[in-house]
Amino acid sequence: MKKPVAVVILAAGWGTRMRASLPKVLHEVAGKTLLGWVMDALNFLKAEKRIIVTRPEMTSVPNYAKDYDISYQNHYEGTGAAVMAAREELKNFNGTILIVFGDTPFISSETFQHLVEKNQASDTPSITLMGFHAELPNEYGRLIVKNNHIVEKIVETSQATAEQKKITLCNSGVMAIDSQILFDLLDKVTPNNTKNEYYLTDIILQARQKNISCTYIIADQRELLGINSKADLAQAENLVQTILRQKAMDQGVTLRDPSTIYLTADTFFGQDVVIDPYVVMKGKVILENNVTVHSFSHLDNAHIHAYGQIGPFARLRPNSNIGPEGKVGSFVEVKNTQTHQNVKINHLSYIGDTIIEENVTVGAGAITCNYNGYEKNKCTIKKDAFIGSNTSLIAPVTIGAGSIIGAGSVISKNVPEDSLAIARAPQNHKALWAKKFHENKRKK
Ligand code: UD1
Ligand code: MG
Repeated sequence: MKKPVAVVILAAGWGTRMRASLPKVLHEVAGKTLLGWVMDALNFLKAEKRIIVTRPEMTSVPNYAKDYDISYQNHYEGTGAAVMAAREELKNFNGTILIVFGDTPFISSETFQHLVEKNQASDTPSITLMGFHAELPNEYGRLIVKNNHIVEKIVETSQATAEQKKITLCNSGVMAIDSQILFDLLDKVTPNNTKNEYYLTDIILQARQKNISCTYIIADQRELLGINSKADLAQAENLVQTILRQKAMDQGVTLRDPSTIYLTADTFFGQDVVIDPYVVMKGKVILENNVTVHSFSHLDNAHIHAYGQIGPFARLRPNSNIGPEGKVGSFVEVKNTQTHQNVKINHLSYIGDTIIEENVTVGAGAITCNYNGYEKNKCTIKKDAFIGSNTSLIAPVTIGAGSIIGAGSVISKNVPEDSLAIARAPQNHKALWAKKFHENKRKK
């Protein structure tokens, strides 16, 4: 970049078309917020100034805005009013201002770079828009272009004539503009439209009246999907999943039925990973070499080491770290737990807040009781232990190395190593009781 860059992400729209209490930019696609997608793509720019425009009411937005300054849009509506809100933060900035929409998540770093470079190539302060050809331009603003690829104005659909609506060259909302001209142009914008909003797009007409150059680049339509409704969000999820699945398969991952497997932007694969149909990932998931995930499993922020076998019907909740050759089988839920090499939890278990050392087998139906209604407590199961079926481990508790827990035990005290622990009512027999019972009943 020849000049410093400032990034302004507009995220203060009410998102009314989403009909949701969650701010629009915090909705997720492939496990990442719309805002997260935008910020990640902008990282490479190493911008001198980074600003997110939001509203005081949207209290959760700043929590997601790491490394960004926050400007609040308190007065007036519209994208133009949103940029005005960043004026104070930008008062000492000299360079190119890149204005980006928080609801347009899939623009690549390369496309942003292309836009900024084109703007910086101009000898005089200028505006460069990011345009695209839409198959169905619907609600997008249209770029009205005259000779020499100069944009004369942007017309919003609501204001467009029937003739203008036929134009397929659309406004993505993203623009690069010289800091010297931005606020002077915005000062001239009025809310003179049906919505009574200050449209950022109106600065183009103002600029042309002053003979300021307004050019554009054409970007790929697939990158410029703007999210305004839940239907747009679903369409975006679909698009991103298709891309993530293709990327995984290109890397050598076997997806047995790709359209039923949901990945996140933060799913990482080793070699020879196999995923059966109907598997869902959330957050950051790492599947190392030779891991197999069987059908109907849900993995949320989990790390599966080499040769792990997960599912069918396994649920891995956040911070599950399954060691090499580990098995987590059907109807097993694991949370905040670390297992070492060759640990098997094959059937119907809940294991939470636990460390399990190598070569441990957890029998069917064994569970940890890690929560007493107030706090979470830890279990430690030392190496080579065997936890019999239907055991309850009442945390905090440590099971010694090499010990065996008899099936059906309720273990509330630490178990010494190499011992047998049985904590259940002893079995007793009443001789011939059943026989007499049946005889009495039959006599009646
Ligand atoms: C906008 C553009 C339109 C373009 C389209 C691309 C304007 C007037 N229109 O329309 O030309 O084709 O995006 O997706 O710019 N925002 C604020 N404060 C506000 C209003 C909006 O910060 O008062 C933010 C929103 O959070 C969002 C972005 O600006 O991230 C765009 O707002 P939105 O209302 O979705 O504009 P569109 O109608 O999509
Ligand atoms: Mg929009």
